[in-house]
Amino acid sequence: MDDNAALLRTFEALRAGVDRRLAELAPPAGSAPDRLVAAVRYALLAPGKRFRPMLALLAAAEFGAPEGAALDAACAFEMIHAASLILDDLPAMDDAGLRRGLPTIHRAFDEATAILAGVGLLNQAYAVIAADHALPGPLRADLTARAAHAVGFSGLIAGQARDLFDRDRTRDAAALDRLNHEKTGVLIIAAAQGGAAIAGAPVAAVEAVGVFARHIGLAFQIRDDLIDAQGSAEGAGKDVGKDAAMTTVVSALGLAGARQAMDGHLASAAAALGGVGAGDLLGRYVGGLFAGRKAAA
Ligand code: IPE
Ligand code: IPE
Ligand code: MG
Ligand code: MG
Ligand code: MG
Repeated sequence: MDDNAALLRTFEALRAGVDRRLAELAPPAGSAPDRLVAAVRYALLAPGKRFRPMLALLAAAEFGAPEGAALDAACAFEMIHAASLILDDLPAMDDAGLRRGLPTIHRAFDEATAILAGVGLLNQAYAVIAADHALPGPLRADLTARAAHAVGFSGLIAGQARDLFDRDRTRDAAALDRLNHEKTGVLIIAAAQGGAAIAGAPVAAVEAVGVFARHIGLAFQIRDDLIDAQGSAEGAGKDVGKDAAMTTVVSALGLAGARQAMDGHLASAAAALGGVGAGDLLGRYVGGLFAGRKAAA
């Protein structure tokens, strides 16, 4: 059995563990109105890549955290992400009909239920971190601050506002970097650095993980924009062509230019990690995720 196949099995086992724990952390039947519980579970447990929790778990593993130590925090980052997708898909935002291969939550349920599910999930994420008593109190506070910063007015919320408000304006390279960093990158950074922090990684290593994740966040949104421009709804499991009327890295640089920019960020990410951590788990996981897109896009 080669090394790579074993690693892929490890990644898959970690991802499956996230799914199992998310199902436990989601509100159970009877804990809130049935319709709300069903909607939250529908959106949260739908099949996603679990990219952010995987980064948290792999960063934790890379720096020697005991198995399972980062699982709840990793799930909290996925809850924040799922909440962001619910809000992103609303008619007032991207008005999307398909998500993770299923009708979007506001179509499967209704808009009010979707809004309540999204805000409730966001809240639940902080509750999960606060209740993670296996972690020392100061670490829980640190993770809460990282999560709140990632969502906040210099993070995802700001990026989503910028995405909507300036949609039809020309964006230069710096504006596109800022937009993609805020709406997508900051949460990815928080998840990866949060995992490293749980492991008690040295400050310099946490910083290196941050630089890695910054570039990965930018590459990830370019990858997403390439899928929007070129992919199919069946393949992506979500609406495509949603960015047609807005300036993205793809519309600004063209397909080849965007792929080049993405590859540049991937190279910078790899360079940032060089020599930090023993197993290159983050680099190998992310390399696998981007491999298809680099070749096929
Ligand atoms: C989609 O995120 C939204 C972006 C930030 C680009 P993912 O591509 O991680 O979506 P899921 O979680 O796999 O559904
Ligand atoms: C992703 O932007 C940003 C967030 C969801 C926070 P998109 O609008 O491009 O994401 P998709 O393509 O709908 O998944
Ligand atoms: Mg959007
Ligand atoms: Mg969208
Ligand atoms: Mg998109």
